[in-house]
Amino acid sequence: QGEEDRPLPLTGRKVLITAGPTREKIDPVRYFTNPSTGRMGYALAQKAQQMGAEVTLVSGKVTLEPPVGVDVIPITTAQEMYEEVMRAYSEQDIVIKSAAVADYRPKVTYEQKMKKTPGEYVVEMERTKDILMELGQRKEHQYLIGFAAETMDMERYGREKLAKKNLDAVVINNVSEEGSGFGTETNASLLITKKGQEMAYPLMSKQELAENILLAAIQEMESENR
Ligand code: CTP
Ligand code: CA
Repeated sequence: QGEEDRPLPLTGRKVLITAGPTREKIDPVRYFTNPSTGRMGYALAQKAQQMGAEVTLVSGKVTLEPPVGVDVIPITTAQEMYEEVMRAYSEQDIVIKSAAVADYRPKVTYEQKMKKTPGEYVVEMERTKDILMELGQRKEHQYLIGFAAETMDMERYGREKLAKKNLDAVVINNVSEEGSGFGTETNASLLITKKGQEMAYPLMSKQELAENILLAAIQEMESENR
């Protein structure tokens, strides 16, 4: 049998991926965000599509080209990401939350540009919804993968997120390490699964890491006949 006769590993599967930063506005000319470029999520979306999946990519504002053959849903705020993800969730087989979602947003968004005044200015912030946490609470058949961005005690914090958010797997990145995390071409990561697998991926391209993450998920799903 030739290579091309073998079905792709994600044929018939639906995969939802979130990518990029969110933006939380204070006024028409100012917002809070983070340095995420979306590269990890876009690499995951492209790989999953190449592996045969029907891919939905909910993406914050990034400058990357949309991956070919992927349904891209653009969003700006954490609340918009929440709404799009929840809308699509029930029909998905694999969900990967690689987006860098703001934990806080300004309590008030001003319609008009704020004018500067002498002295300090304090912005009151309120919590956004933890999208991944809610996905974990509402989980049915989905294989749910979260990311953890850490600057210290990676494994401990990563394991806490795996348990607390009811994930099947967590990909932990040391965002203070050179060449890893926000805005880089590469990542060095630790993948830990609920079933007890632990994989340390050395510094590699986000494309390669994407393939490894998807293969790990497929292997666990197949071992459970999911
Ligand atoms: N996440 C989310 N919604 C939020 C915040 C985070 O869905 N409002 C998701 C991210 O997409 C990521 C995971 O939760 O997959 C972990 O994000 P991270 O910032 O590392 O952890 P937090 O749970 O936000 O905790 P903290 O920032 O305090 O470390
Ligand atoms: Ca956070």
